[in-house]
Amino acid sequence: MSRAPAIEVRGVTKRFGDVEALGGVDLVVEPGTVYGLLGPNGAGKTTTVRVLTTIITPDSGTAEVLGLDVTKHPQEVRASIGLAGQYAAVDEVLTGRENLELVGQLTHQPKSTIRARATELLERFDLTHAGDRSLKTYSGGMRRRLDLAASLVHRPPVLFLDEPTTGLDPKSRNDLWDLIRELVADGTTLLLTTQYLEEADVLADRIAVIDRGTVIAEGTAGELKSQLGATVLEVAFPDDAAAAGALATVGAVVAGAETDGSLVRAPVHDGARAAMEVLRALDDASVDVSGITVREPSLDDVFLSLTGHRAEEGDAPPDVDDPDRGGDR
Ligand SMILES: Nc1ncnc2c1ncn2[C@@H]1O[C@H](COP(=O)(O)OP(=O)(O)OP(=O)(O)O)[C@@H](O)[C@H]1O
Ligand SMILES: [Mg+2]
Repeated sequence: MSRAPAIEVRGVTKRFGDVEALGGVDLVVEPGTVYGLLGPNGAGKTTTVRVLTTIITPDSGTAEVLGLDVTKHPQEVRASIGLAGQYAAVDEVLTGRENLELVGQLTHQPKSTIRARATELLERFDLTHAGDRSLKTYSGGMRRRLDLAASLVHRPPVLFLDEPTTGLDPKSRNDLWDLIRELVADGTTLLLTTQYLEEADVLADRIAVIDRGTVIAEGTAGELKSQLGATVLEVAFPDDAAAAGALATVGAVVAGAETDGSLVRAPVHDGARAAMEVLRALDDASVDVSGITVREPSLDDVFLSLTGHRAEEGDAPPDVDDPDRGGDR
């Protein structure tokens, strides 16, 4: 079974002035699979997607979509991909239907089919009732759905979704996840970027964790999470000093315990049992506990364990230096 990869990125670098956005990215996405590119703000996710969708050219390295080099065959690549997400190009003034029909024209679909395709997509994305309204009247969730619909007009075999659910409420996010799952059920190859481990976990067959322009880990969600235990145990203490004082007691029960302010955190496999044992040990030592939590690891936990720094280290300033960025919608 050696089919050519649907997406193959080798040693891609990209600089913007002083900023090294990509420092040698490698990715291989098998056809018909969902690949998650997971990383915090400024990691290089959008830059990677922009290289693969021929919007920008890499400084070095190669990127191929369906065996076509993105710099040598940009037209052919564009014909076989769809792009939706963070900085999508839907027109505010036009209606939902007009946006879809415009994409049909721009992608050279047969005139006779464009209207029917728009109708079909409005239906599929639950936008029929809003099809003749200007996008200005759409909610965030509706825009994301229309944007996704627009990326599908020409039935691309390879789809790129750049943070498709960022900023959506949990219900809209879940709805969009369902739609995305339906999309890939028919064999579309999907590369999806996200800041949420949960999203990558739910949708992606494989995940690359990207940080500061390089891939720092790659594997299935299960493989990545097992690197730090299936769950995270967090014990809260009244203050930092109490946490520091309790570290040895917690550490004697569960390996890999670390303090974080007034918390002591440890990766564990059997969360409930570990919580009970830790509480018992702390009780025996007469240590006061403010709270205890057992939860799924977050991107932040994965990061901390892989890099020793948090995903949200410092608030990155908004990118105001790029005129073609529309900002988050
Ligand atoms: N056109 C540009 N001009 C200058 N710097 C840029 C440009 N595009 C990206 N960068 C910088 O490159 C780095 C990677 O940016 P990129 O947009 O790829 O990150 P991201 O992972 O998509 O982040 P986010 O989650 O915030 O969307 C950042 O430091 C960003 O500021
Ligand atoms: Mg981005």
